[in-house]
Amino acid sequence: MPTTEEPLNPVPKRRGTLLVVDDEDGPRESMRVIFKDEYDLLMAEDGPTAIELAKHHDIDVAVLDIRMAGMSGIEVLERLKYVKPDMEAIMMTAFETTDTIRKALRLRACDYLNKPFDLATMRAAVSQAMQRRTLESEIHSSAEKVQQLLTDLENQRIDAQIARKRGDILASIIHDINNPLTVIAGFLELLNQRVSRITKLETEDLEFVKARLGIIIRQTTNCIEISRRYLDILREKPGQSAPRVSVKALLKDLEKNVDVHPSLRENEFSVALFAEDIGVKIGGMDLIQILQNLAVNALQCAPQPHRVEVGGEVLRAPLDLAAFKDGPNDRLLNVESLDNTAPLVKFWVRDTGPGIPAEVLPKIFDPYFTTKGPREGTGLGLNIVQRFIKDGHGALHVHSVAGEGTTFTIYLPGAELAK
Ligand SMILES: Nc1ncnc2c1ncn2[C@@H]1O[C@H](COP(=O)(O)OP(=O)(O)OP(=O)(O)O)[C@@H](O)[C@H]1O
Ligand SMILES: [Mg+2]
Repeated sequence: MPTTEEPLNPVPKRRGTLLVVDDEDGPRESMRVIFKDEYDLLMAEDGPTAIELAKHHDIDVAVLDIRMAGMSGIEVLERLKYVKPDMEAIMMTAFETTDTIRKALRLRACDYLNKPFDLATMRAAVSQAMQRRTLESEIHSSAEKVQQLLTDLENQRIDAQIARKRGDILASIIHDINNPLTVIAGFLELLNQRVSRITKLETEDLEFVKARLGIIIRQTTNCIEISRRYLDILREKPGQSAPRVSVKALLKDLEKNVDVHPSLRENEFSVALFAEDIGVKIGGMDLIQILQNLAVNALQCAPQPHRVEVGGEVLRAPLDLAAFKDGPNDRLLNVESLDNTAPLVKFWVRDTGPGIPAEVLPKIFDPYFTTKGPREGTGLGLNIVQRFIKDGHGALHVHSVAGEGTTFTIYLPGAELAK
């Protein structure tokens, strides 16, 4: 079977490949003589050989005799176009009917030469067909390059998104761990002061040290749990589905955490415990983080002493969402992801601080938005709160009136606790 050297990089290539399909030896030989120095040549004496060659070689241009024994030139063209749709074809015709020519046309043959052909016409026809192929290959390879460029850009965009997500998570870890670390640092300082003054531990001192160590251990455990949770997110481990945390136990933990928080200062802080206990379908640490972020914000909202209250109740009916209207004093968030089926658990964090100005209210959940000084706040607290509530299929409402104070209310899907 006639062969040719396989080009290393077919598109674009310097030397074109020409396939000649003719069952007569004479014209095939003439073609060889004319084109052997210019192109890589493939010779086929019948249709099946031509198709076999097309399967294994890149072919730019084919010159086909229409009238051949066995498979006609039109049939060969049809099959060749199937294998090599971009190939250019020149048909050699003798005394064909218009019908045959129409068929060849339909198969996108680009030229027709009369047989016997004259040398100059054949040279011109093949050269033109080759040029068209080169141009097409160039356009094709440019299009591929553009496509590759677009894919690269898209990949870069995704990489940037992942990096941003990781950056957000890292920032969240730092933000969340800051609360327990502040408490730990304060108590260690206190212990240090007390212990450095004495040489021997009396019972009273021992009790003092023990109590503070207890708090430090609890806060350290919080830090570990916070980092574990975020590491799970980074590893894209799916969270446990619908845990049930007792609201009573949770609020007790929250009270203990806030009671030792430095932001408490001269403020009044109280937690109203639930009349009945119920479970909430959210991670316990997540709920504590939510409420603690809201409580700390409320404690820090004014330098003057004010009151902060946390409380909650069980709702036995779904929320009437139509009753909530966003306005200068109100905003409702996460409605799209809310699982509005009873029972729902409602928590509120209320303060008697200065309130949030109407022009600031729409921005408070934006990441990094803060009205605090550069070393005082990251502006991530409320963004974390909103994300946790969204993950827990809950909703969040804020109502704030200048001069009166602010109330954050959250609604989370509840679940009866196992008896
Ligand atoms: N209870 C509140 N009263 C008045 N303003 C509030 C209250 N809670 C939040 N804000 C406003 O919302 C802003 C954003 O709060 P967020 O918790 O996201 O960040 P931050 O508290 O400023 O920073 P960080 O949480 O790192 O301490 C605050 O800077 C403050 O202006
Ligand atoms: Mg905050």
